[in-house]
Amino acid sequence: MANKDLNAAKRAKNDEFYTQYSDIQTEVNAYLEFDPDTFRGKTVLLPCDDPEWSKFTRFFAENFERLGLKKLISTSYAVESKKYRTPYLPTLFETEAPQFDESKTRVNGKIFVLDHDANGSGRIDLDDLQWKYLDGDGDFRSNEVKRLRDEADVIVTNPPFSLFREFLAWVLEADKRFLIVGSMNAIKYKDVFPLIKENRLWLGNGFANGNAFFSVASGTRTEYAEGVYDSGSNLVKFRNCCWFTNLDHGRRHQPLQLMTMDENRKYSRHREIRDAGYRHYINFDGIEVPFVDAIPSDYDGVMGVPISFLDKFCPEQFEIVGMSLDLADMSVIRQRLGRNDGGPVFYIEKDGNPVRLYDRLAIRRRKTP
Ligand SMILES: C[S@@+](CC[C@H](N)C(=O)[O-])C[C@H]1O[C@@H](n2cnc3c(N)ncnc32)[C@H](O)[C@@H]1O
Repeated sequence: MANKDLNAAKRAKNDEFYTQYSDIQTEVNAYLEFDPDTFRGKTVLLPCDDPEWSKFTRFFAENFERLGLKKLISTSYAVESKKYRTPYLPTLFETEAPQFDESKTRVNGKIFVLDHDANGSGRIDLDDLQWKYLDGDGDFRSNEVKRLRDEADVIVTNPPFSLFREFLAWVLEADKRFLIVGSMNAIKYKDVFPLIKENRLWLGNGFANGNAFFSVASGTRTEYAEGVYDSGSNLVKFRNCCWFTNLDHGRRHQPLQLMTMDENRKYSRHREIRDAGYRHYINFDGIEVPFVDAIPSDYDGVMGVPISFLDKFCPEQFEIVGMSLDLADMSVIRQRLGRNDGGPVFYIEKDGNPVRLYDRLAIRRRKTP
């Protein structure tokens, strides 16, 4: 149900949902626990943001000194450029500022900068944020925002889901550190998976229990199915979201605790493994491991595992060989069935018939030196 709604939001090009402060805090803390200097002396850019709505600017501004930031830059996208319009009234923060401009408020983006104690309070925080209108609408693809990207060391945001691919390419072409929210489906994209395989991009610490709750403008609630939108909190729940990053965190270096193949055959909590063990694929040289907790610790060949493995992936423990989408030999299946049978996936033999499986990651254990 939740994924259906994420797709519905994508179709409607509704990119207007906002990350919660606590999720940003938990995620950033995971990097600081690993390395307290992750952001020290760095310029952080928060594009696709809007401090009057978004919690990213608030979090980074409030924690400016703790993180040891050099500079914080946040840009917002003009309301007239948004594909999805919700009722707009400039906030008092904007209208009461001397630089408020009626002719710009709807069509220009804004830039917020924090790099010194502007109000002389003795500390650098949210109250020192300086803002002005951008020349353009704040589109991340504009030259104006590109220049800010080039100036930054780390780019952090929840970008528009409808432009996720383009946004990631935009970050990568400038070779920047990043921490961005996206849909798990992006793992399978042809321009994303090779980066995962090469350990140039990985999943972040993650949302609590894999559920991401975003706030939305109250007018958009009718687009979400019952149970997904909570009217009490104005939050929508997406089950399929994660953080993508190239910043290191501790969880990805914790190896999975696994049983040997023999132990799994005897004691696995999955009946399927106890009954049938591990089947070899028909159309790929590897074995099927349908559950992450049933990965045998002592198997040296290639294993196909669910995509959700990525959330538990420790690069010191396993190497990613590829994805069923690229590795499955469909000619074997065509021969067996005498017809085409959809996109490339791995198959196992069951009761004399080839059985189609879900997408799989092919992995191999790393030998301990
Ligand atoms: C998913 S929302 C997240 C907002 C905020 N970063 C947060 O997480 O709270 C994405 C935001 O990007 C804005 N946006 C859409 N297209 C954009 C573009 N081409 N350039 C910059 N921002 C854009 C949307 O209007 C929306 O406010």
